[in-house]
Amino acid sequence: MTSPILVTGGTGALGRRVVPLLRDAGRPVRVLSRSAREPRDGVEFVTGDLVRDEGVDRAVAGVETVVHLAGGRKGDDDAARNLVRAAKAAGVRHLVYISVIGADAVPLGYFRQKYAAERIVAESGVPWTTLRAAQFHGFALNAVRGMAKSPVMPAPRDMRWQPVDVRDVAERLVELALGEPAGMVPDLAGPKVYEMARLERDYLRASGKRRLMLPIRVPGKVGRAYKAEDNLSLDGADFGARTWEDFLAEEFGAAPARRA
Ligand SMILES: NC(=O)c1ccc[n+]([C@@H]2O[C@H](COP(=O)([O-])OP(=O)(O)OC[C@H]3O[C@@H](n4cnc5c(N)ncnc54)[C@H](OP(=O)(O)O)[C@@H]3O)[C@@H](O)[C@H]2O)c1
Repeated sequence: MTSPILVTGGTGALGRRVVPLLRDAGRPVRVLSRSAREPRDGVEFVTGDLVRDEGVDRAVAGVETVVHLAGGRKGDDDAARNLVRAAKAAGVRHLVYISVIGADAVPLGYFRQKYAAERIVAESGVPWTTLRAAQFHGFALNAVRGMAKSPVMPAPRDMRWQPVDVRDVAERLVELALGEPAGMVPDLAGPKVYEMARLERDYLRASGKRRLMLPIRVPGKVGRAYKAEDNLSLDGADFGARTWEDFLAEEFGAAPARRA
């Protein structure tokens, strides 16, 4: 019988897109989650926690391919370390990891941890593939929605994003998971680069909200990294098909009437 593909983070925004595509490709899937779930549609669940190193050996038992998508605000390096140890012991033959564009360059804790996790995967001795993706549309939406909570909406200057559709990332990851280990593959970004203020204005228009916008400068090293476009991938990257405008149209429908 074909061994299951283990998807960590299979319950998250990206994982929920990856799992059915693997199933469509005829592969049995096992998902590691911190909460217990019943099996369904050819997907079995193992309860465990990568950061606490609980249930990880059970999750990788009998698995040849691991798609490691689990992530949080903290502990992605510890999670990778625990997963790699267990994967190596279980004889895993391909570990696919999702990282973020700018992991090695943007001086924020999240990026640093993703970079540390990349190194742990690359030095694990388990054959690997790592894909760096840009921010997902849903993440960009949450970011601008958060900023719109204030009656005066901060609009960071010198900050550009290249948001990518989570479905485009999922399709690429499945292609990588079903292929041979490839090391670091070209980044996957969205098809267009947007000023942060443009993302904000588009969101306001789509959701029918009005806000005053206040241009701000992001200070220090972080501001310099964004100004230098260290979070973007322009040369040699792959680009998803779906734009931010497509995503907003799906989320909000046709341009709604304005409301306060
Ligand atoms: N969002 C973005 O814009 C973006 C951009 C580039 C790369 N990425 C990377 O893509 C990956 C997926 O992102 P996402 O937006 O889909 O995340 P998400 O929706 O926040 O989901 C996080 C997933 O990680 C799992 N998880 C978290 N902590 C865990 C732990 N300690 N042990 C086991 N599982 C754990 C969760 O599973 P349970 O809750 O079921 O336990 C959930 O399935 C992450 O690695 C993220 O860094 C995201």
